[in-house]
Amino acid sequence: MPEASTQEPPVHIDPSDPHKGAQVREMFAGIADRYDALNRVLSVGRDQSWRRKAVKMAKLKGGERILDCCCGTGDLTLAFWAAKPQPSFVVGGDFTPEMLHIARRKTLSVGGPDMPPYTAADALHLPFRNAEFDVVSVAFGLRNVQDVNAGLRELVRTLRPGGRLVILEFTPVKRGLWRALTNFYVNKIVPRIGQLVSRSRHQAYKYLPESIGVFPDASALAARMEAAGLNNVHFRKLNFGTVAIHVGTRE
Ligand SMILES: C[S@@+](CC[C@H](N)C(=O)[O-])C[C@H]1O[C@@H](n2cnc3c(N)ncnc32)[C@H](O)[C@@H]1O
Repeated sequence: MPEASTQEPPVHIDPSDPHKGAQVREMFAGIADRYDALNRVLSVGRDQSWRRKAVKMAKLKGGERILDCCCGTGDLTLAFWAAKPQPSFVVGGDFTPEMLHIARRKTLSVGGPDMPPYTAADALHLPFRNAEFDVVSVAFGLRNVQDVNAGLRELVRTLRPGGRLVILEFTPVKRGLWRALTNFYVNKIVPRIGQLVSRSRHQAYKYLPESIGVFPDASALAARMEAAGLNNVHFRKLNFGTVAIHVGTRE
């Protein structure tokens, strides 16, 4: 790290720390302006197609009210906004102002009528009424929320009965040669590229593999979604089983 001598020592976030929220917010604030570029590089250009698949799995019929929670720089928010048939309203919420700033700037540059608004929103205390949305989504966000079960319950609270929760997230690979290969990529390559490009003192891309490691696998996440009040929970794995899209319907 070339700047090591002039910077504070790297901050390590313990992904299982129940009080990690402030550190997570500070970490994303530090990498906000490079976040999109890093996503494209680290996913080898695949991440936007995963978001489009998540939109497809929401099975929009047109006219839906949609919340994209943990929206970050707004890529999934914009994918929902551009979906056909068109939703009637899409809003992005996130607790890191710097990520929301990039989302707003990007959205302005896309232009057009009825662009999505973005709002400060903590996934554990959403500033929305009960049953306000037809679809709630969260992409690569739930893993960062301090209490996954409480986060799921709060997302479900804002869904109307019959509404769908869509979760796009990394998922731990269980066994085999592919597990060894993905572990090598995620544990050794990702942190190096991430550190190099983001120059983050938070070691954001060291936190990434650690947080995936402690996140429930696809079946366990499905069970937690059911426990949070969702029916008909199903999931699809992508990218050789390293990414999953879960959908569940509110009872
Ligand atoms: C990895 S980024 C994902 C951004 C975006 N959804 C995407 O697809 O690229 C995770 C985002 O979750 C946000 N986040 C983490 N914990 C949160 C919480 N408790 N409430 C709201 N946002 C949160 C972070 O600020 C960050 O913008």
